[in-house]
Amino acid sequence: MIVDNIHRTHYSDQIHDSIVGEEISIAGWIEDIRNIGKVAFLTVRDVRGATQVVLSNEAMEKAIDTPRQSAVIVSGVVQHSKSKDFPLELKAGKIAVVGEALHPLPVDPTGRVESGLDKRLDSRALDLRNPKSSSIFLLRSKVLDNIRMTLRSEGFVEVNTPKIIGSASEGGANLFGLEYFKKRAYLAQSPQLYKEQLVLALDRVFEIATYFRAENSNTVRHLTEFLSADIEAAFINYEDAMDLAEEVIKNVFKLQMNVLSKNPIPSSISRLSYVDCVEELCKEGEKIEFGDDLSDASLRILGKLHNGFYFIKDWPIELKPFYIHEKQDNPRLTQSFDLQYGYLELISGGQRQHNPLKLRKRLIEQGLNPANFDRHLEVFGWGMPPHSGWGLGLDRLMMVLTDSDNIRNTVLYPRDPNRLMP
Ligand code: 4AD
Ligand code: MG
Repeated sequence: MIVDNIHRTHYSDQIHDSIVGEEISIAGWIEDIRNIGKVAFLTVRDVRGATQVVLSNEAMEKAIDTPRQSAVIVSGVVQHSKSKDFPLELKAGKIAVVGEALHPLPVDPTGRVESGLDKRLDSRALDLRNPKSSSIFLLRSKVLDNIRMTLRSEGFVEVNTPKIIGSASEGGANLFGLEYFKKRAYLAQSPQLYKEQLVLALDRVFEIATYFRAENSNTVRHLTEFLSADIEAAFINYEDAMDLAEEVIKNVFKLQMNVLSKNPIPSSISRLSYVDCVEELCKEGEKIEFGDDLSDASLRILGKLHNGFYFIKDWPIELKPFYIHEKQDNPRLTQSFDLQYGYLELISGGQRQHNPLKLRKRLIEQGLNPANFDRHLEVFGWGMPPHSGWGLGLDRLMMVLTDSDNIRNTVLYPRDPNRLMP
């Protein structure tokens, strides 16, 4: 590669013993300058780590007054170092300051001066120079790859469905409306109806995309715009769908173990029923009976009783959306499940109702107007196979993987009722 005034030849993690004596160029931003008389030491950080640079003479004069966090390109010769932090260093020949940083900066990317999450989010791009922040997104990118890999290996086709939709898909209370030329349109809250339609021909589909919910909930686990990994497959039941969820989660954890050296998850995830959970909660003194939704408090109790991952399956029909399939042996229950991590819901899924007459009936029971679903219901007369699927909240999964207590840590530019910028 050419050594010129814009390109680098090496990232910090590519500086090895084998290139001692070679002239290279690195690029990044100045983290530290230590002037010790005849020479100065510069720490130059890039996205993969940091490099120590030794400066003398002309290069030193140029660097000494450069504000920290300025973008620089340094060329020089790789040599062994006496520093305890860096086995190798770069003896600088030339340094070019290509993007000067203002002073003071809104947050300190070295993390020495700590800032609260809100302040960091206000200056997110700069905050990401802190390896603590960037590592979340480097892992997130790998997690997305890993999920795609698992699903492709199981025969799933990646699809992209519309995010601007003409009618409410799943009820609609939490839809954002928008003006669409002279019509009313909405932002998709999930790909549910499209992904179900697509199994008709493509058999197994998945989509990773952002969805929108106008929920005015200011919690550490809700956003108005979130990323979801959705699957839908023909000719599988809800137990098969749970198997697929388990496989995806386990592969992600193997990856995380390699990247962050964390503990592996247990070899299988227990599948409790809703009724079992209600019983357990009653024993714990909760006032709850069959048909009640599991409140935040209830989920926190269950989370303490069942450490880590567990499924809650067979929910009462009134607690699940119209498209969920009832249980064959007990129509008050459904072939549905949530995957929990402690109190946190990561996945909802189940087998779908594929009988158009029953589907129409369910819409009415839930107070929805079947006429608004005509274009969807007609598809069910085209040879709709039995099918199941789930939706996995990616931002929440990242909370689990990075031990984060706020979903906003795991999203680059989070959107919530109070945050629309940057
Ligand atoms: O549980 P939800 O609402 O299920 C569906 O959307 C179904 N269509 C999925 C299916 O295939 N049956 O959303 C799925 C997951 C949740 O478990 C949660 O992890 C995440 O998406 N999620 C949110 N994440 C952050 N902020 C929000 N407001 C979220 N709403 C849902
Ligand atoms: Mg859910």
